[in-house]
Amino acid sequence: MEAITCIEDLQRLAKRRIPKMFYDYADTGSWTQSTYHDNENAFQRQKLRQRVAKNIDNRSIKTQMIGQDVSMPVALAPVGMTGMMHADGEILAAQAAENFGVPYTLTTMSVCSIEDVAAHTSSPFWFQLYVMRDRGFSESLMKRAKDADCSALVLTLDLQVLGQRHRDIKNGLSTPPKPTPAVLIDLLFKPRWCWQMLQTKRRDFGNIVGHVQGVADMSSLAEWTASQFDPTLDWSSVDWVKKHWDRKLILKGINDVEDAKIAAGLGADAIVVSNHGGRQLDGALASYDILPDIVDAVGDQIEIHVDSGIRSGQDVFKAMAMGAKGTFIGRSYIYGLGAMGKAGVTKALEIMHKELDVTMGLSGETDIHDVGRHNLILK
Ligand code: FNR
Repeated sequence: MEAITCIEDLQRLAKRRIPKMFYDYADTGSWTQSTYHDNENAFQRQKLRQRVAKNIDNRSIKTQMIGQDVSMPVALAPVGMTGMMHADGEILAAQAAENFGVPYTLTTMSVCSIEDVAAHTSSPFWFQLYVMRDRGFSESLMKRAKDADCSALVLTLDLQVLGQRHRDIKNGLSTPPKPTPAVLIDLLFKPRWCWQMLQTKRRDFGNIVGHVQGVADMSSLAEWTASQFDPTLDWSSVDWVKKHWDRKLILKGINDVEDAKIAAGLGADAIVVSNHGGRQLDGALASYDILPDIVDAVGDQIEIHVDSGIRSGQDVFKAMAMGAKGTFIGRSYIYGLGAMGKAGVTKALEIMHKELDVTMGLSGETDIHDVGRHNLILK
């Protein structure tokens, strides 16, 4: 097997192993994909200050995110249908995160259910909530997350309507799926994936199917899901969530200074500066580009995390230097999962850990808490 030295290697391997329909689902942005690409480019454009002749022995990238000890400031982001990238994907990713000492966030739209993941892990994970029109269902999800000992709720605010992703439509990725002939032929070249799927019973949305009255299979799910993302969601919904959730709360999907100011006043523990990995509003600013303004506006009021476009430990370093207290990664670990299952997620985390540690050293720093804008070339 070729040496895997960076996230792009995992991406190439994932592309070979995941069926086209699901690979495209992960590796795509909305409309022209300008924000999707800009997310990565914004990190690339940022130059670093190289410092030398400093004692950089004994480096530490350990820190805390919302008061939780983490081996590095990276959490696994919620990713819908993780279990289609690799059978039992949510369980495997959660286990890899647990072993590595970083938080795992289970999405509402997961294949493995909250209870499934809890049964196969021993430390608390985070749960991501979409507020559905059926508030009773959202309430029951929060109760199930509490019963499963989830320690934080990540409330996603940037998906009241779905950003259109052309490739999903062209591939027939819908609920229920209507795969095109090309997509079906592609399955013949993905025997490993097909074999995995035959081995598992987890092939639909485990948090939903069987938990909502009348939703017992993929076709009844289709109708229900189509009607459920709530365009009426507003800031008062955060208060409603807080009535049902008394543990840590993170507000995800903030990509504007005014919204950050409102969010910071709502009593949450953190916000995630995010544009959903370029999957929602195409043309929105790259998260890294808006990050400094948000840090300057509310960084002294609330903990700030960032995601969208992070593909290396260097990107994590830049985010931390710009003032974030933590990062989330989506595709970077999904590529690892699709490439090699749990070992691939671990590999993605190892790669990021090493890159972050070495970048910190070459920047003349030994403690992640000392990293700051002085490490960046700012024009
Ligand atoms: C996501 N994201 C996401 N976010 C969320 O709150 N709930 C979800 O179910 C999903 N689903 C989802 C599926 C896929 C395939 C992707 C790629 C992303 C967004 C995710 O949490 C995160 O914000 C982005 O993935 C960050 O961008 P990068 O790291 O993928 O560039």
